[in-house]
Amino acid sequence: MKLVLLGYMASGKSSIGKILAQKLDILFIDLDNYIEKKENLSISELFKTKGEIYFRKKETYYLQKLLKKDGDFILSLGGGTPCYGNNMDLVNQFDASIYLKSSLQQTFLTLSKEENKKSRPLIASISNDDLKEFIAKHLFERAPYYEKAMHHVLIDNKKMDQIAEEILLVVT
Ligand code: S3P
Repeated sequence: MKLVLLGYMASGKSSIGKILAQKLDILFIDLDNYIEKKENLSISELFKTKGEIYFRKKETYYLQKLLKKDGDFILSLGGGTPCYGNNMDLVNQFDASIYLKSSLQQTFLTLSKEENKKSRPLIASISNDDLKEFIAKHLFERAPYYEKAMHHVLIDNKKMDQIAEEILLVVT
């Protein structure tokens, strides 16, 4: 099974992906890490030196490559991956796509922590006073793409393991 996790920044895509991969005993691939390794640059460095448009092209390029990859795996996307070009059409060609849906409040609480902000170039320089409004607008723009996923799972106030179990129920 090739399963894709998507959702806004800090919705737990990578953490839940790792748990799922362990439970199913299959490979876990984080698209951001995959791009970082292939390009030999961190996401922050890629944004800074090559620009966001370059990064978005690479997301689509590697997503297409992974769609052709043999074997079973769990793939976690970057928060913006579903929202560019025809990426959601690609995503829905995998066996299952899951939208990890979080509330504005939970997203704000997580992303306002410095350790979660600093590695994310789109929000790193936004003050916490302005962050909630930024996320609200951004989520509003992005939600229509996320909602094209085959399954939606609410993540607020749930433990990672519980979320993983819910996903297993809908995909197996
Ligand atoms: C982005 C989310 C990040 C990363 C990049 C851009 C976005 O991934 O791909 O910083 O556009 O929302 P996470 O969702 O893992 O933070």
